[in-house]
Amino acid sequence: MSKIRFQSRRIALAAGFVALAGMVNQAAAADATPRTGKQIVEAICIHCHGEGKDGAPRIGNTNDWAPRAKFGLNQLSKNAMEGVRKMPAHGGEATLSDLEVERAISYMVSGGRTPDPQKTHGKVSHGSGEQIVASACGNCHREGSNGAPKIGDAEAWRPRLAKGINELVSSAVHGHNKMPSRGGFTNLSDADLRAAVSFMASKSSGPNNK
Ligand code: HEC
Ligand code: HEC
Repeated sequence: MSKIRFQSRRIALAAGFVALAGMVNQAAAADATPRTGKQIVEAICIHCHGEGKDGAPRIGNTNDWAPRAKFGLNQLSKNAMEGVRKMPAHGGEATLSDLEVERAISYMVSGGRTPDPQKTHGKVSHGSGEQIVASACGNCHREGSNGAPKIGDAEAWRPRLAKGINELVSSAVHGHNKMPSRGGFTNLSDADLRAAVSFMASKSSGPNNK
């Protein structure tokens, strides 16, 4: 790649990051500093997707990816987040955010030729926040095991809520002290975690709000 093209891509990327930083809404990435597709692929996905271990489609190999890519990035992302056959959920690395998983996929599909996606689609859903809390987070947050802030306990939640929902979703994605990444449920997407965090927060934000 020529130097000029490289630089103009960097400028375009930088502009994208500025746009992302200014966009504090539901769809914004849970993590303020997501890694690039290249970094994630070279740290994690390459272990299987480099040589095509267990039939993993090889990085940048159009023939391997074409039949899969035709289902679209959303379907590929869903499969990569939940795992499919010998492909482990999140590539076996639960702390990757949805956006990072998507970046790694587009890097592999294109062989590094497309710029990183800036915004996660956030569509993978395993139910409402209430359902996810009931089936996953409640295991610890109902009783407050291991120091988990108990649902409905406004005292326990106040200092955490002060960090803002984005920060709490980021804690849920990456883990936080004794709170395991994704609560240990590696198939949950960032959108699921956001729904669950919002539900717990809504039940815990005031003394009469149980
Ligand atoms: C332990 C090995 C392993 C690692 C690590 C791994 N993969 Fe995979 N991956 C596979 C295998 C095997 C398949 C083929 C599964 C199949 O279709 O049978 C696959 C398939 C995929 C697919 C295609 C799914 C589909 O719908 O056809 C995507 C997307 C994917 N991996 C993304 C990733 C990303 C992103 C990473 C890094 C974060 C990663 N993988 C890390 C083994 C791995
Ligand atoms: C295995 C037990 C366990 C499960 C399951 C669990 N948590 Fe937690 N969680 C904890 C503990 C323990 C803490 C307190 C960690 C600390 O701050 O010391 C915590 C803290 C948190 C916090 C506050 C983090 C912060 O930055 O202050 C959030 C948000 C959270 N959990 C979300 C969730 C969500 C969402 C789920 C379900 C997907 C979930 N947790 C499932 C144990 C768990």
